[in-house]
Amino acid sequence: MEVLVEVKNQIKKFIEVCSYPEALELLEKLATGKMLRSKLILKIAGISEDSIKLCAIVEMIHAASLLHDDVIDEADTRRGKPSINALYDNKTSIMFGDILYSRAFTELSQMDKQIAYHVSNAVTELSIGEMMDVDLTNSFNTSYEKYLTMIYKKTASLIEASARSAALLVGLNSEKYATYGKNLGLAFQMIDDILDITQDSKTLGKPAMLDFVEGKVTIPYLYLYERVEDKEYLKSLYKKELNSDELNWIKEQFKKTKALEDAIKEAKQIGNEAIKSVIDEENSEDLVQIMRDMIEREF
Ligand code: FPP
Ligand code: MG
Repeated sequence: MEVLVEVKNQIKKFIEVCSYPEALELLEKLATGKMLRSKLILKIAGISEDSIKLCAIVEMIHAASLLHDDVIDEADTRRGKPSINALYDNKTSIMFGDILYSRAFTELSQMDKQIAYHVSNAVTELSIGEMMDVDLTNSFNTSYEKYLTMIYKKTASLIEASARSAALLVGLNSEKYATYGKNLGLAFQMIDDILDITQDSKTLGKPAMLDFVEGKVTIPYLYLYERVEDKEYLKSLYKKELNSDELNWIKEQFKKTKALEDAIKEAKQIGNEAIKSVIDEENSEDLVQIMRDMIEREF
């Protein structure tokens, strides 16, 4: 998409305002992601000066949150490339995150009041979601409710705010688009959690099957725990570097209990909910396509 290049140029322009070459240098080092939030905004609001600015703002906030997340998670790769904390250090990752984040907010303050409200509010949710995520790794979580609330805040809230804001920009029904964005975001995070199990590290751009080792009991593991016979054995593998026998046991149990299969079904079901909310809208075909592309990332 040509227009995504325009979004990247807009981000560059927003950072150039700082008149600080180091910040631009760091920007160059950031690996570009899928830009799901921008694709969503552009599909809903079309291409305009404002929609491109909104994309740039949301991408900068998202990038800032990942810069901080990589410090929190002690990750050394991001999107298949060395993360900023690995290339430089934690301090640089946090400070550059702060620059991206605050520049985004300055620009956001110049936009429509409702948009500024919903996007800034989503960032609080995002921050609470991150804290919940970290808290949930303290002990084996068995609550689907807690998992759902956490992924809503950590991931879906900013996608919801992006869809809502795009609709507000062009006078569409913002509630319907917000519901679409929220469910798209929930399904997106569930699929991310599923891919951690089903994909190899090369495709993921980070080690595979890492979530459970890091203490994250994601949806496939929640189902697995509910259904597996030897719950104590599963619990004993929690937060442990697994050897190949242990890994194979988990994989076997995923098959046997259909936990993985049903987690995929649940993500697709939420995806369908998203589509339902915008099915009568003019651009619903595009929105169905975004959902399909997102769900059909290789399992
Ligand atoms: C990635 O999750 C993390 C997020 C989606 C949100 C992180 C949010 C913050 C650090 C708070 C907000 C801060 C600012 C400055 C806006 P993950 O660790 O599950 O995914 P990963 O495997 O891609 O790292
Ligand atoms: Mg992380």
